[in-house]
Amino acid sequence: MRQPALTSTASFQALATHAVDIKDARMRDLFGADPQRFKTMSLEAAGLFLDYSKNRLDGRTLELLAELARERGVEARREAMFAGEKINLTEQRAVLHTALRAPGDATLSVDGQDVIADVHAVLARMRAFSDAVRSGAWLGHSGKPITDIVNIGIGGSDLGPKMVCLALRQYAHPRVTMHFVSNVDGHDIDNTLSQVDPETTLFIVASKTFTTSETMLNAQTARMWFLAHAKPAALARHFVAVSTNVEAIKEFGIDPANMFPFWDWVGGRYSVWSAIGLPIALAVGFGYFSDFLAGAHAMDQHFVEAPLEQNMPVLLALVGFWNRQFLDCASVSIAPYHQDLNRFPAYLQQLEMESNGKRVTRTGQAVDTATCPVIWGDCGTNGQHAYFQLLHQGSDLTPIDFIASLRPGHELAQHHAALLANCFAQSEAFMRGKDIDEVRADLQAQGLTATEVERLAPHKTFPGNRPSNTILMEYLTPYTLGALVALYEHKTFVQGVLWDVNSFDQWGVELGKVLAKNIEAELTGAPRPDLHDSSTNGLIAMARAAV
Ligand code: F6P
Repeated sequence: MRQPALTSTASFQALATHAVDIKDARMRDLFGADPQRFKTMSLEAAGLFLDYSKNRLDGRTLELLAELARERGVEARREAMFAGEKINLTEQRAVLHTALRAPGDATLSVDGQDVIADVHAVLARMRAFSDAVRSGAWLGHSGKPITDIVNIGIGGSDLGPKMVCLALRQYAHPRVTMHFVSNVDGHDIDNTLSQVDPETTLFIVASKTFTTSETMLNAQTARMWFLAHAKPAALARHFVAVSTNVEAIKEFGIDPANMFPFWDWVGGRYSVWSAIGLPIALAVGFGYFSDFLAGAHAMDQHFVEAPLEQNMPVLLALVGFWNRQFLDCASVSIAPYHQDLNRFPAYLQQLEMESNGKRVTRTGQAVDTATCPVIWGDCGTNGQHAYFQLLHQGSDLTPIDFIASLRPGHELAQHHAALLANCFAQSEAFMRGKDIDEVRADLQAQGLTATEVERLAPHKTFPGNRPSNTILMEYLTPYTLGALVALYEHKTFVQGVLWDVNSFDQWGVELGKVLAKNIEAELTGAPRPDLHDSSTNGLIAMARAAV
């Protein structure tokens, strides 16, 4: 049960020795020495293509990384997850988001309960409800069809549906506008309520626990706003809930008939495939939601069946692990060259950082290496004109995942050529760089004096040798998006196994929640200076004075 410390394993030590030789190798040279590098270090699965050849590694590195994956028990842990074993040890829960996208004829039971039958029963209800709303058969209390849907949720109950609804906006129903309210900041819900009509708005209150304070407050505010315009009997046409907590839903005043359940074996950040995905089914229709699940399922099958050396999520994880452990990369930038994947970096932040932002092993010992890097990013080409400067010439090494579709969802061919050209040029520039001799030659060719050449050359030099992956798909569709999300889920899982952390709890969010409750009471009631430091007391006093 207790794993040996990561750095004490034979395969980690072999990697550390190997890293001395290879980590500073020039990728230019590696490409020069092996014309087959792109072919060998790329693969396809579930409608996605991954090129990981622009990393500072060679075939031996990959062999050693695969050995490490074996030594850390990736295959056995993967089986345990798919079989419904309670691998979330601190909460004693199974981790079965993969069951949410399994076909109806699959079989799986947890604690004697037929999981697949439960999943498909909820999917059937989601289909009926989304069909009714989209067709106009589901009417608001005054007899008008729904035009606006407001999802109230936060974290995993917001980021997934929001990211997917934006990514699939071209598939969306023309009558229905989606809104997402997450922040406890009243500007969020105030702004949304000012845009919608109580006669034609449907609220989805989405919370796994139905206790998250931001969501509860936003839901109460939405309810009060609604009741200022309609009678309580009308609530049932305008409020539905997605949760695991039926008692809390009843207490809130939502009819359990309007509740779409899911289960404690679905982690918040893995819940987009469950009823938390209801906004997606409402926006794009249940057929496309099913395609989204099918793409993820195809990636699941690949993850389960492909040997580690040809397994896309495993390779993405191993390359990321190599960059983190042996090249000291403290962050990873996600660069979707697709405007509709705008929210994908934010989605991955929760997925990876809430999962693997841990510093003790599953059995409570300190992890003896760095763990999850910071995940951040924005769409290309926008990022190029903002922070790519640091990525090219800054002092830190930041690997980048480029993500693009080969074909666009529009007919503006020139735009798409420019977009892809930028995407590929960036990965080339990060890899190649431009050394000082090349810069000097350029400047001399421009007719600059020798003094000017020497003055400018250091500023115009690019160190290059900066790692990146490129993920391509033909089109961004519900299916390829499902595969993409599942790819990163399994990457996260594999890295969690390597570090031996529990990727499925999130105790790190609790302390702030408790302190916020105390301070909220002090902002409206009596202050408790004995509880705080002078900074916190000073800030509380300023807020109290401003009321
Ligand atoms: O506080 C963190 C967290 O628990 C996330 O893990 C989760 O996705 C989010 O809050 C929302 O939780 P819930 O769906 O229970 O409202």
